[in-house]
Amino acid sequence: MTHFLDIHTTAKSDLRAMIDAARRIKEARGDVPKGTPDRDQPLKNRMVALIFEKPSTRTRISFDLGVRQMGGETMVLSGADLQLGHGETVADTARVLSRFVDLIMIRTFEEATLHEMAEHATVPVINGLTNRTHPCQIMADVLTYEEHRGPIAGRKVVWSGDGNNVCASLIHAAGQFGFDFTFTGPQPLDPEREWIDFARCQGVAAETERDPAKAVEGADLVVTDTWVSMHDPQSARERRHNQLRPYQVNEALMARAKPDALFMHCLPAHRDDEVTSAVMDGPQSVVWDEAENRLHAQKAVMRWCLGV
Ligand code: CP
Repeated sequence: MTHFLDIHTTAKSDLRAMIDAARRIKEARGDVPKGTPDRDQPLKNRMVALIFEKPSTRTRISFDLGVRQMGGETMVLSGADLQLGHGETVADTARVLSRFVDLIMIRTFEEATLHEMAEHATVPVINGLTNRTHPCQIMADVLTYEEHRGPIAGRKVVWSGDGNNVCASLIHAAGQFGFDFTFTGPQPLDPEREWIDFARCQGVAAETERDPAKAVEGADLVVTDTWVSMHDPQSARERRHNQLRPYQVNEALMARAKPDALFMHCLPAHRDDEVTSAVMDGPQSVVWDEAENRLHAQKAVMRWCLGV
């Protein structure tokens, strides 16, 4: 079964093939109206379950649209509405869903839920975000960087802020795609040591620099994300804001990076918290391409999972 669960557990050659496929899929589509089917219909007669136990705008819309453009159909399911939210086990849900659909995408809280779904499903499962990782987002980010600046291998990518689930998948990508990674943020919000070690084992630099101005020196790409993730308690909001304020991405920080450095944010953004509007809307920002590229990258992921 070809699941897409994480970047660090997917072969480098498969990741590269998916990014290259995503670029071709995007180019082949051109600039036609959004409802126009893709010329080839690789998901014709396929049914895809999209399960959301957390809110979503981009993941929901891009998967739903991507399946439809490829000729398939979707069932968008809320975790609360399924029996899964009322005591049925993940394993039993996986077994039942596998009798009805050809592919499952799940956005959930615990990583264990994703893995249990994959273990018991007899169709491919895609990670649409857990508390720990967000691989589909980072596939879109790699696609976005490369379409603007060419190969990401050998570049320096800096994450400023909370070492959260999106940051984790970016560190995995550093190891798998061969770019150097620097984290800058407060020590209590460091990314997991396991991820840093993974990247280093692949032969890339994975560093921590507490001074954000020093961290972004020589950066080709600066990335940030919300200071309070969906699974973080709201009671932590004030403390996190105080801890993270020095790591805001603003024009002064971007000026310390390379002149042609790009800025990315997976969105939704909290303008003038983790990033200023001047940067979000400025010439180095590629956040709208990044959002759109969820569609193209995930089409490549789904095709890879289904072998079509
Ligand atoms: N970046 C991202 O996953 O967006 P959504 O939470 O809107 O899906």
